Amino acid sequence: MKNHISQVSVKTLLAVVFTVFALSSKIYAQDGEKLFKQNCAVCHASHTDQKLTGPGLKGVFDRVPKGDWINKWILNSEKMIKSGDAYANKIFNENGKAAMTVFEGQLNDKDVASILDFIKGPPPKGSVVVQGPPTDGGEPTEGNGGIEPLYLILGAIVILAILIGSLRSVRASMQNASNRAEGKPENPDRTFGQEVKHWMGSNRRLVGVFGIIIAFAGMKSCWEACYDIGVYYNWETQKGYKPEQPIKFSHKLHAGDNEIACQYCHSSVEKSRHAGIPTVNICMNCHKGIQSGPVYKDKEIAKIYEAAGFDPKKGTYDNSKQNPLQWIKVNNLPDHVYFNHSQHVVVGKIDCATCHGNVKEMTVAEQKSPLTMKWCIECHRKTEVAMAGNAYYDRLHKALKEKYAGQYDVKFTVDKIGGLECAKCHY
Ligand code: HEC
Ligand code: HEC
Ligand code: HEC
Ligand code: HEC
Ligand code: HEC
Ligand code: HEC
Repeated sequence: MKNHISQVSVKTLLAVVFTVFALSSKIYAQDGEKLFKQNCAVCHASHTDQKLTGPGLKGVFDRVPKGDWINKWILNSEKMIKSGDAYANKIFNENGKAAMTVFEGQLNDKDVASILDFIKGPPPKGSVVVQGPPTDGGEPTEGNGGIEPLYLILGAIVILAILIGSLRSVRASMQNASNRAEGKPENPDRTFGQEVKHWMGSNRRLVGVFGIIIAFAGMKSCWEACYDIGVYYNWETQKGYKPEQPIKFSHKLHAGDNEIACQYCHSSVEKSRHAGIPTVNICMNCHKGIQSGPVYKDKEIAKIYEAAGFDPKKGTYDNSKQNPLQWIKVNNLPDHVYFNHSQHVVVGKIDCATCHGNVKEMTVAEQKSPLTMKWCIECHRKTEVAMAGNAYYDRLHKALKEKYAGQYDVKFTVDKIGGLECAKCHY
């Protein structure tokens, strides 16, 4: 009787676990969209003809040679071009010899298969066309990865534990009933905890295997949590943070509608590590004359005058009445991190919008990037150093070109120049 029931439960257990694994690999397959966004969307539109750096991938399966050509191309396009493959060289030339990233080592066959499934499949809901790099620097959209397989497995285990527990108590009461009928002493009632312990004792190997799976899954999430540092305990400076400022200053009105250059107000952005926030004197350059605005009339501009100690009626300043504007910082890195604007904007030639989003459309300044270590590092792994025609790199570029003369394009992403070294970003 006992053996019979535990055999049944072990079989059910294995069947359920198997289904769960099968299901979770399905969930992984749906990650094609996520993988595409992380790896390909910078250069390709998935479901339209729109050309970014690379061609739009709509109808790509009708163009490329049949068989596993496309898989080989995605993993190592460079090798395909060098091997003299006719189609590879054709598209390479057609696209102005722009190089596609080599994904060998970063993506495996399964990843490529799920990306291809995604391209083949219907266009995702919402936007398909990604124009240039995503504004948050390529941070994968969070929370669209489906249910974590780990939770599915844990859920299945809990349900099974309850199932086995109740089967066992049914068995125990049946046993007791038959014992009573035969006049034998009844088995002592076991509590649920004792039942579980007993079951674990008689299924040691299974428990061991699960223990290992759970331990590994736990370690993996810890590792990911560390990598994502900041997302977990730096809530105040989260993406989307948009504090109310002392004056209703609108970037849309100034940088957008009136096309005032960012550098007019953030004048140190190209020269130093800080972009700088303008002093009230900068505002006064224009607002001495502009005394009323389209939305708040003179109400908000009056606060500028108060800060500058300016009397708009008399047109005079009273220095004793000045008090500086107390802007609230939107993008915040902890003190132990070193970030330099001029290095990114001037040397790296990165647009403000890549990290700050489309500020020209913001009525209230907002944090658009996660500002986690993962965010910095992922960008450093995939962004190539802008060397060609960059005075800062002219010598290095020339030397490298000579060294690798005749060889096919060598990629210098930021990590190759030390962009992953702890000391570069941490004091
Ligand atoms: C850095 C830009 C870049 C990235 C990232 C990139 N590609 Fe490409 N891809 C290109 C370019 C450019 C071409 C055209 C051929 C050439 O110039 O090398 C191309 C060509 C292709 C082609 C052939 C298209 C055709 O019309 O025949 C496919 C398929 C493709 N890429 C898939 C991908 C996939 C999938 C990914 C992500 C895993 C990806 N690419 C990531 C730039 C990129
Ligand atoms: C490209 C820049 C960059 C590199 C390289 C880098 N970090 Fe970071 N690190 C950051 C940023 C940014 C944060 C702040 C994240 C936050 O607070 O949201 C951070 C946070 C941390 C923290 C958390 C500290 C805390 O309590 O806020 C630790 C620990 C850390 N980094 C260790 C390292 C180590 C070790 C290395 C080298 C392997 C390293 N970092 C390399 C950018 C970097
Ligand atoms: C007329 C002056 C002015 C112009 C032009 C201007 N800004 Fe600003 N910017 C400000 C002021 C004032 C603040 C602080 C108040 C706020 O956050 O809204 C600010 C704040 C910011 C912040 C948030 C700073 C933080 O605390 O993290 C960013 C990012 C920013 N500006 C980017 C830009 C970009 C990009 C442009 C050009 C497209 C631009 N600004 C043009 C005046 C200006
Ligand atoms: C280069 C010129 C220039 C500078 C510098 C400038 N502004 Fe303005 N500001 C304008 C213009 C133009 C308007 C819109 C006037 C209109 O459309 O009637 C405006 C309007 C405003 C308004 C009224 C908004 C409304 O909808 O009622 C406020 C508030 C304001 N600015 C704040 C600031 C602050 C704070 C600074 C300094 C950080 C600043 N401005 C710097 C040109 C400037
Ligand atoms: C590579 C990403 C990146 C780019 C590109 C970038 N910023 Fe920033 N910006 C940041 C980060 C990160 C911070 C937070 C810095 C800190 O807290 O120390 C920041 C902070 C700021 C601030 C707040 C004041 C300060 O200096 O901390 C302003 C204003 C600003 N950026 C404007 C700009 C403008 C204007 C441009 C384009 C000319 C630009 N940024 C380009 C990442 C970037
Ligand atoms: C949008 C992409 C992008 C993001 C996001 C980004 N960086 Fe960078 N970073 C670059 C590029 C490109 C360079 C190379 C500039 C150059 O050529 O020197 C660079 C260079 C650096 C360097 C100099 C590395 C060296 O070896 O000289 C440091 C330090 C650095 N970044 C810190 C950070 C920190 C800290 C963050 C996050 C708060 C960050 N970066 C986010 C693109 C990025």
